Amino acid sequence: MCGIIGYTGSQSAAPILLDGLGKMEYRGYDSAGIAVLHEGEIEVEKAQGRLVNLLERTDNGKKPVGFTGIGHTRWATHGAPNDINSHPHVSGDGRFAIVHNGIIENYAQIKEELAAKGHVFVSETDTEVVAHLIEANYSGDFKAAVMKAVSRLEGAYALGIVCADFPGTVFAVRQAAPLIIGLGIGENFFASDVTALVSYTKNVIYLDDGEFAEVRPDGFTIYDSIGRPLEKPVSRVAWSIEAAEKGGYEHFMLKEIMEQPAAVKEAIAPRVKGGEIKLDDFELSGEDLRDINKIVITACGSAYHAGCCGRYAIEKLTRIPVEVKLASELRYEDPIIDEHTLMIIVSQSGETADTKAALEEGKRRGATTLALVNVVGSSIARLADHVLYEWAGPEIAVATTKGFTTQLALLYLFALYAAGKLKRIDDFEYARLLGEICSLPKRIQNAIDMNSAAAERLAEKYHGSTSMYFIGRNTDYAVALEGALKMKEISYVHAEAYAAGELKHGTIALIEEGTPVIAVCCNEDLLEKTASNILEVKARGAEVLALSFRENRDIIAHADDVLFIPRTETFFSEAVAIVPLQLLAYYVARDNGCDIDKPRNLAKSVTVE
Ligand code: F6R
Repeated sequence: MCGIIGYTGSQSAAPILLDGLGKMEYRGYDSAGIAVLHEGEIEVEKAQGRLVNLLERTDNGKKPVGFTGIGHTRWATHGAPNDINSHPHVSGDGRFAIVHNGIIENYAQIKEELAAKGHVFVSETDTEVVAHLIEANYSGDFKAAVMKAVSRLEGAYALGIVCADFPGTVFAVRQAAPLIIGLGIGENFFASDVTALVSYTKNVIYLDDGEFAEVRPDGFTIYDSIGRPLEKPVSRVAWSIEAAEKGGYEHFMLKEIMEQPAAVKEAIAPRVKGGEIKLDDFELSGEDLRDINKIVITACGSAYHAGCCGRYAIEKLTRIPVEVKLASELRYEDPIIDEHTLMIIVSQSGETADTKAALEEGKRRGATTLALVNVVGSSIARLADHVLYEWAGPEIAVATTKGFTTQLALLYLFALYAAGKLKRIDDFEYARLLGEICSLPKRIQNAIDMNSAAAERLAEKYHGSTSMYFIGRNTDYAVALEGALKMKEISYVHAEAYAAGELKHGTIALIEEGTPVIAVCCNEDLLEKTASNILEVKARGAEVLALSFRENRDIIAHADDVLFIPRTETFFSEAVAIVPLQLLAYYVARDNGCDIDKPRNLAKSVTVE
């Protein structure tokens, strides 16, 4: 949601904090701020709006001066995004400054108590309350004050705290929100995300819930929730800073669309050995799989759509029933999940609050849990019984692209792996389908090459539309869902997806002269059926843009415009079919002058429910 960072060392803190905030701006971007310690004082600068405003206010980091500090980029939860509600927040006596990612659920009660004791609050935030609470518990021992204050907090939070009496020390506290300590030489860091740290160090420690760290220039100490020092393993970040930079592209989203062939290859290739699929540490025998009577896939947003896509391949190939559930619903549903359930949790960030809660619910009910996650060391990756990493590299654009297609690659691999173990398909079919999965990177590349110019051209025609309808059947419907989400979230064009056969049960009333209908027709078994739906909407004046393969002459004849993908095995077609729709959404958003990488109201990692 928000991004937090801390630095202590021998370099000027402000430029490092600002640079890190720039790398994490995708986590939230409605305001930003930094606090720097200098000669026993805390100096704070904050600015509403994008980070560029803070850069201006701080003269590109020339001020405030000092070697220890904390920073924050915000996605507002409590209080409007203005200068006052921006972090860092300072205690009443000015001795403590604090940055916070998450939500303090019991802040109102604490605020009332502190107000009764004379504390005066200036902002509407939950975070300011924590600064005052630390102040109220302080009698010269920084660590003790932090611990006492934190013991009162309920909710999800990652905190960074500095104290004017302790130059060179920052405290970082984690409870259900990501927090990573970065280890340098003569300097140390913390941040919500490794992208903020990789320019400075690749050696990191992932904090767990309830842990906190005292970070100094010459070292650090990690404590458990009752203040006992802990030994934690140091991990090495596998990717370089270039992976988190635009590399000549106008937007991260376009770069990430173009990276998909390589990312999908990275997800697949290391897991195919000697003509067989090996799912890292996730080993299930045919017998284990026969004991599973249901698979529940749970996720949010695009990751949920990945689950909708993967369901078709898993059910077709394994004949195990699959339910795909929105994590935000599952967690409050009293779901039918037990020790015979395999739960697949899909999350690019590995930090989505609802998805994490759904995973916890599944574990409580005895399910075996398998997480498909991109961010290494993230909460969901660590909580699940098993994890398969997407290996997509950092995804910076808020709208996911390579995160989505690598999730599909893992779901396809799982489907075929399970079908093989269950002996539901013969060796020949297994080898053929594995060949199809392995050819996805090439097909995705073809889809990019075939559609980049066409999508740009079609965007000129469609970008002024006020509403678009995406239709498809079965696997194509799952693609339509994700295509519509891409369109609306970055271009702000109202876009809805419908199962093609469902349109005439009400929604067709909205089709009028010139309404764009994007018809996904990549499922070989259902082409004729979707063709009929195209005729139905055309008869009501719709402008139809079909997505299909060149061999599908029928649809080409009916549609006003066509985008093509290479012909692809239906089971795995979603990973290719989505690419032209990502490009179309990108160019429509560009033509509409939208802020593509940071769409309004959104944030990359949704750590609040
Ligand atoms: C849309 C998008 C979101 C995420 C959703 C889940 O482009 O990116 O819908 O898919 O917020 O995020 P993760 O996968 O991080 O759990």
